[in-house]
Amino acid sequence: MGKLLTDEDVAQYRRAGYHFPVRALSADEAHAYRDRLEAQERKLGGPLSGNMRHKVHLLFTWANELARHPRILDAVEDIIGPDILCWSTTFFTKEAHSPAFVSWHQDATYWGLSTNDVITAWVAFADAPVESGAMKFWPGSHLKKQLEHRDTFAADNLLTRGQEIAVDVPEAEGIDVPLKAGEMSLHHVLLAHGSGPNTTGDRRIGYAVRYIPPHVRQLKTQDSAMLVRGRDRYGHFELEPGPRADLDDAAILAHRTAVERSAKALYSGTDRTEFRA
Ligand code: NI
Repeated sequence: MGKLLTDEDVAQYRRAGYHFPVRALSADEAHAYRDRLEAQERKLGGPLSGNMRHKVHLLFTWANELARHPRILDAVEDIIGPDILCWSTTFFTKEAHSPAFVSWHQDATYWGLSTNDVITAWVAFADAPVESGAMKFWPGSHLKKQLEHRDTFAADNLLTRGQEIAVDVPEAEGIDVPLKAGEMSLHHVLLAHGSGPNTTGDRRIGYAVRYIPPHVRQLKTQDSAMLVRGRDRYGHFELEPGPRADLDDAAILAHRTAVERSAKALYSGTDRTEFRA
């Protein structure tokens, strides 16, 4: 037994490349986080978009608190060990009745990280039934190593480059990942995954938090991350400060610096320098 996951949960993650559902927050806590996000969206006049969808934990105290949530970190520690950096956070929001989708892809494709010891915790801020465009996983695909991808930059695709796996993914092998508000899924950086449109009357809101152990290196650029548990004995990443207040000047500056750097890595080989909507 680990801190939160059982030995069988961890074995399943290693075998299949994912584990879910894990209860990260109570339904009430999830609701409170959703309220804070939506209050912010009302202030901004719309959903977080462009650079603001990424490294959100550098901008908002509640997003930072969640990236450091002990239950999430306990599960992550059971997979990657006690020293943990939060490398990035991204919202994947699909509005009610929206065509937004995510093509089949492996996260590792453009991230530029030196090892595959990278895990995503995807936390549901709202119920995410299959019809809302819940994620689909291709079990065991993390063992296929890196597959070839092509960029599409398709308009409704929520990924940075609209990247998709260049070979046919056997749809029948995909499994649905429905989650209740406050539950999370965990997935490996090489696991092929995607998701369809939201056909329900509610928003589907996922907060994806990417964690790495400090021995990982960024191969494409100078990069930064936030120490959220244990120690960093390597110093491969510049350590990012958490926000003292939502969108205060220091937070906006730290976020801009960090996001411009990561956009450079994620868009390398293209002429883009900013995250698209
Ligand atoms: Ni992904």
